[in-house]
Amino acid sequence: MRHPRLEHFLDIDSTPVSELGALLDLGLEVLAAPERYRGACRDQLMVNLFYEPSTRTRVSFEIAALHLGMQVVNVAASGSSVAKGESLRDTYATLQAMGPQVIVLRHPENDVHHSLLDLTPPGAHLVNAGDGSRAHPSQALLDVLTIRRHFDDLSAISVLVAGDLHHSRVTRSGVALLKKLGVGELRLASPAGLGAGDRVAKNARVFDDLDRAIEGVDVVMMLRVQRERLAGVEVPGDAAYHRAWGLTPERLARARPGAIVMHPGPMNRGVEIAPEVADGPQSVILEQVRNGVYLRMAILLALLAGD
Ligand code: NCD
Repeated sequence: MRHPRLEHFLDIDSTPVSELGALLDLGLEVLAAPERYRGACRDQLMVNLFYEPSTRTRVSFEIAALHLGMQVVNVAASGSSVAKGESLRDTYATLQAMGPQVIVLRHPENDVHHSLLDLTPPGAHLVNAGDGSRAHPSQALLDVLTIRRHFDDLSAISVLVAGDLHHSRVTRSGVALLKKLGVGELRLASPAGLGAGDRVAKNARVFDDLDRAIEGVDVVMMLRVQRERLAGVEVPGDAAYHRAWGLTPERLARARPGAIVMHPGPMNRGVEIAPEVADGPQSVILEQVRNGVYLRMAILLALLAGD
């Protein structure tokens, strides 16, 4: 296996497909034998800088780094000088001055990471843990790694992503990665007003009805409605949304037998997904979480290789 090498990991579009493939292979290798990588990045320092709430992404980057023997510092914008009016650039430059090898940044605005590269010293690495509604590349990789564990040949499967696509950086990065890797068929389904936009939709078959969209698919990925970001979009209340767009056992029965159910989290049970489905035998939701640690170990290994 060729070891992937990255200077930064900012989005799927700016990462060569050869490195994306090598990252997935390394993620699978780490998953098979995590003990081989224990302490591989000893004495390196990672800072998690999060301007938005996070459970899975922040904690799994932290656990990944700890497994590799790194030291980790967590900075939540709400408890930092950001609350005193410090700009992102000043906060970022301040943290860089303390000499971490890796900064993992989540931010509510689109495309902030590229604009910080001029403040990133040689030998320091920047990772995108989600920006606005634009990109969430480590989530895309862990999702594809999870799919690969269940289906050998991506070109032979059909993947449906359903729910609030409009606000979803998971969808944008996921679609970009699945396309780059040559997935067989990609379907997108969303309520009116929550579509992904033309740039994403041109890569997929687009549906406005979940019952039709789910017919015969191998993978169903459900997304929550990002109510905290809805600006002027009318979305039905929770019960009505569940009736029209919830993944129920009856709807799931229309997918291919053996289809897997995914969700990047956080879930709103009883809204976009029925509890019986979330906890049912076809759900791989907690597997996604577990794989996120291994995949993020692979990303850190690729950044720090050769340093
Ligand atoms: C998502 C995110 O923050 O983009 N969660 C995650 O990182 N696993 C999706 C969401 O907030 O709904």
